[in-house]
Amino acid sequence: MDDNIQEIKSILKKYNQEHLIKHYETLDENHKKQLIQQIKNIDFSLIDNLYKNTKKEEKNNQDEITPIEYLDKYKLNDEYKYYENIGKKAIKEGKLAAVTMAGGQGTRLGHDGPKGTYDIGLDSHKSLFELLCDSLKEEGKKYGVTIPWFIMTSKENNKATVEFFEKHKYFGYQKDKNIFFFIQGELPMIDTEGKILLNEEGLIKLAADGHGGIYESLVKNGMTEKMRQMGIEWAFIGGVDNCLVKMVDPVLMGLAIDKKVTVACKSIVKANPHEKVGVFCKRNGKPNVIEYSEITDEMAEQVDEQGELLYGESHILCNLFSIDAVERMGAAPLPYHVAYKKAKYLDENGKIVEPDSPNAYKFEAFLFDAFGKVDEMVVLRVKREEEFAPVKNADSAGVDCPRTARELYKKYYNLD
Ligand code: UD1
Repeated sequence: MDDNIQEIKSILKKYNQEHLIKHYETLDENHKKQLIQQIKNIDFSLIDNLYKNTKKEEKNNQDEITPIEYLDKYKLNDEYKYYENIGKKAIKEGKLAAVTMAGGQGTRLGHDGPKGTYDIGLDSHKSLFELLCDSLKEEGKKYGVTIPWFIMTSKENNKATVEFFEKHKYFGYQKDKNIFFFIQGELPMIDTEGKILLNEEGLIKLAADGHGGIYESLVKNGMTEKMRQMGIEWAFIGGVDNCLVKMVDPVLMGLAIDKKVTVACKSIVKANPHEKVGVFCKRNGKPNVIEYSEITDEMAEQVDEQGELLYGESHILCNLFSIDAVERMGAAPLPYHVAYKKAKYLDENGKIVEPDSPNAYKFEAFLFDAFGKVDEMVVLRVKREEEFAPVKNADSAGVDCPRTARELYKKYYNLD
């Protein structure tokens, strides 16, 4: 261990992070081992670069943003059946898997636990996980298959998630046969001086690296390999917080196969120009999403000759990828976006500090930043009332909350 410590010390010195082992001697053996392992896993030059980026003046974005072409699912006319049949065949052959990003907690909803375990208040009191599983089972039945379900958790919520599934007997799915869990990546949080923070236990303060880490996590955790062994060729990746998410869509799949694209995404028309959703676009000629925080009012309000919003195709985190595309996207790192957050930490004097205003940077990659790695993708406009009932905020917000999601869900399934 001594050699280990010497080696660690010199790395820390090089990157000006020596404070990380200041309290090493006060830790128990288990924590000592964990801390050493964590430090060994840190890519210090990446953290250094990320810190430097936080200090860079936000330069005027020179990217050329242009509208993207899309197809309307309900205006495909005769071609609808054609694509649907191609997709149906592939689904029946077991070529589709569903992937759910469930690394988040239900904090914004006032829920203490993984977001997927949240009960939106239906009479059945089913959790988001169960609602998603119900839809997978219903779709699977149509095609005589069980759609394999891959669930991305985070270090923070993996144990609670797996326990929840165990308690509910995996909703009829079978662990390691048609349901698989994998854990997303994490990155250290740093303070405004670039120092990596320690948590209350004296270990590195880590935070989920954003849903953009999904490609790498799928590959690193052996999930894409498993998919290949199972004969799966396509993975639908969606969020856990949309209780109407349609993970099995033969038309979307048929389109991707027929048009020979490796990525096919669903969109819905923006409710109004300023709805807080990202919109599909082309960035420097490549498919992309422009986030609501990034789009100018002028651009958000621009309309075409028919009066339709030029940037009106909302990204609803309903995206289909070929396994090849997932692997390609997981091979090279995505850019990280920075968020300034409140983070409890252990200071240099061994005191726990609980700040009441933001004090730390958290780094997150966004899944759609990988879209630019392909030249072409399909954007398929679907109906909001059929596919998008997100649960993001508490009811007091009035939008994208349990009440609105419940109403949309009941309407779609003709409940009450
Ligand atoms: C997101 C999209 C936005 C889109 C909107 C539609 C981003 C940056 N923006 O916004 O373009 O219009 O959804 O609903 O994504 N998750 C993880 N691990 C993470 C982070 C997120 O698993 O590290 C999962 C969450 O559990 C959730 C999903 O990803 O299922 C969405 O994440 P969230 O951070 O809530 O995205 P939004 O800000 O709502």
